[in-house]
Amino acid sequence: MGVVVPVEKGRPEAEASLNDLVALVADGMARVNTTILSRTGSEVAMIPEVASHLISSGGKRLRPILTLACADLCGYAGGEGAVKLAASVEFMHTATLLHDDVVDESDMRRGRVAARIKWGNEASVLVGDFLLGQAFRMMVEVGSLRALDILSAAATVIAEGEVMQLTAAKNTETTEDEYLAVIRGKTAELFAAACEVGPVLAERPQAEQDACRAYGMNLGIAFQLIDDALDYGGTSDALGKNVGDDFREGKITLPIVLAFRHGSEEERAFWRRTLQDGEIGEGDLDQARAILHRRGVLAETVERARQYGALAREALAPFAPGRTKDALLEAVDFCIARAH
Ligand code: IPE
Ligand code: IPE
Ligand code: MG
Ligand code: MG
Repeated sequence: MGVVVPVEKGRPEAEASLNDLVALVADGMARVNTTILSRTGSEVAMIPEVASHLISSGGKRLRPILTLACADLCGYAGGEGAVKLAASVEFMHTATLLHDDVVDESDMRRGRVAARIKWGNEASVLVGDFLLGQAFRMMVEVGSLRALDILSAAATVIAEGEVMQLTAAKNTETTEDEYLAVIRGKTAELFAAACEVGPVLAERPQAEQDACRAYGMNLGIAFQLIDDALDYGGTSDALGKNVGDDFREGKITLPIVLAFRHGSEEERAFWRRTLQDGEIGEGDLDQARAILHRRGVLAETVERARQYGALAREALAPFAPGRTKDALLEAVDFCIARAH
């Protein structure tokens, strides 16, 4: 964290932002936000209450932005289809967050108390299901069977990733490959699908669909690697969620896989006690952070994210230079240097 590395054009990675990308798709995103609001409506009052608690607290809206930008990159004419698919993608994401906070027993999300704390686990799960249902209704309205195929496949892969993670939890012997399989499923697949449906709607050749998918997949892996570093190296204020959640849950993320691999016998005993046996006392999170820093594994995780970031950049090579491509390239740096 905090290691500033200059990129090709001389702009430090740490200065990268989503501003250009946000400005490019601003009109489309205004329509996406209107669609999101109108589709959370239900006569069952608790549904819009719970949904808007999470939706109105913001979030980066990164995935729908990527859908619109990839459509734009591929010359999509700007019809309603991309807006509806982008809204569907954000609904899928919102549903996974509602479900994820139940699974992870998290108390804070987007700077607010998690929906499950306010309304309970049952309401969180069920409102998540409602949003997932709405997402699929919108996809059907768009009428692209291929887009429906991509996004419905993503929904199953996300669930697989989350279930895979359950089986890896508390297992300090988890390998880097097993960890990567989890994050590809739970996070990167939705990034990949969000990007792939852009060229699909624009009816572009398979090579462009594959390129956008590869961009999204590698960006998603980098994004989750950074998220996992931030869970130890970030701050709750910037993240809008509690740091240390992964430690308290015994989640085996890359910093832990590396720390366990590089650690002394004493350190390994510490990880077994805290993560495997769940015996966590006062000061243990600070101790965990100290070990991770000492072993340099947060920086190593960021380095790994940079490697996936480079693959995401390379994936855009087939596209002609332009503002949208530049903004998508900058988004890679943002995802690596982000503090939130
Ligand atoms: C959170 O995603 C879930 C992960 C994949 C780590 P974001 O960080 O994109 O969440 P919001 O939408 O901006 O709140
Ligand atoms: C992110 O899960 C992926 C999904 C929500 C499916 P995490 O549990 O790693 O993300 P945060 O830290 O809660 O946002
Ligand atoms: Mg979580
Ligand atoms: Mg989780």
